[in-house]
Amino acid sequence: MTPALRNLEMTILGLGFLGLAWGKSRLNGYTTPNRVTKSDDEGKVAYLLDIFASLRRFLPPHVDLRGRDVLELSPGASRGNGVLFLALGARSYHAIDVFDLAGGEGPAFYEQLLDHFPEGREADRERARAIAFTPGAREFGYAVGRDFDIPRLAEGRGFDLIVSCAAFEHYDDPAQAIAGLTQVARPGCESVHIIDLQTHSRWIRERDPNNIYRYPEPFYRLFRFPGQPNRQRPADYIRNFVAKGWSDVRFVPSRTIDPALRELSLRGLAAPFASLDDMSVLDGALTARYPGPGGDWEMAS
Ligand SMILES: C[S@@+](CC[C@H](N)C(=O)[O-])C[C@H]1O[C@@H](n2cnc3c(N)ncnc32)[C@H](O)[C@@H]1O
Repeated sequence: MTPALRNLEMTILGLGFLGLAWGKSRLNGYTTPNRVTKSDDEGKVAYLLDIFASLRRFLPPHVDLRGRDVLELSPGASRGNGVLFLALGARSYHAIDVFDLAGGEGPAFYEQLLDHFPEGREADRERARAIAFTPGAREFGYAVGRDFDIPRLAEGRGFDLIVSCAAFEHYDDPAQAIAGLTQVARPGCESVHIIDLQTHSRWIRERDPNNIYRYPEPFYRLFRFPGQPNRQRPADYIRNFVAKGWSDVRFVPSRTIDPALRELSLRGLAAPFASLDDMSVLDGALTARYPGPGGDWEMAS
C-alpha cells in the first residue's frame, strides 16, 4: 500500500474512532480515567506508584516535599498520590476534578498503597495514614466542580507544588486552567504536568499515534465531548504558562513515535499541525516555577 493510501485508510478509520469516543461519552459519561478497572486494587497500586515516580523524576533535584502543600489537578479514580506525598512529609494534599471519580475510594486502599511504598519517615507515614483515615480531613482535601474553577475549588488554600498526570490534554480551556492554578500558586511554587499528546483510542493509537491531528479543527470538534483531547501542543502550554508569569517553563519529551511509524505519522496532518516540528513527540512533562521570594525549596535538607 502506498503511504498516501495508508494515510487515507487511517483517516477514515480514525473517523470511526472519533465517533465511537463521542458515542461512548454520550452513553456512559466520563467513567474510565485510565486503563485500570476500579476493582483491580493491585493494578491501581502499580499504576499510582508508576505515576508518582514519574512526577518525582520531573521535580527539580533541590525540591524537598517536607512541609509543602500540594495540589493535584484531575486525579481521576484515586487520591493515592496524595497519600504518597503525605508519607514523604508534605503538609497537605488537595485534589480538584470536574468528575467525582475518586469519591468512593476507601482508606483500606491507601493502607495497601503504603504497604507497597517503603519510603518516608515512620512518623510521616503514620501521619499520612491517620489523615487519610479521617473523613473530611482538611490536609487531604477533594473538591469537584463541573466549572473547574480552580481558585474556588481550592477553598482558600495556597500551594507550593502543583501536579497533574494525563489531565491537561483533556481541558476544554487549558489557558483558563493555567490562569486558575496561577492564582493559587505561592511564590516559589513548582509545577509538574505529565501530558499525553497522542491519539487516545487504543487500537488506532498503536498504528497511527497522530491520528487526532489529521482533521481540521471544525471537523474534529463535530465529535466534541467532555474530556475530548484538546490537541494543544507543548508550545501552546509553554506560551500560556509564560504569559501567567511562570519561569523556567520547559516541556521535556518522554516518548517519541517509533521510527518505523514516524514518516507515515508525520504525513497528511491538518493545518496547523503539518508545519510543526515537534509532531513526533507523544508525551512528556511540562515543568515550571512560579517566581517570587518564597524559594526556601533550596534550603530544605
Ligand atoms: C485520563 S484521566 C487522568 C486521571 C489521573 N490523573 C490518572 O493519571 O489516572 C483525565 C482527568 O481529567 C479530568 N477531566 C476530563 N475532562 C476534563 C475537563 N474538560 N476539564 C477538567 N478536567 C477534565 C478527568 O476527570 C480525569 O480526572
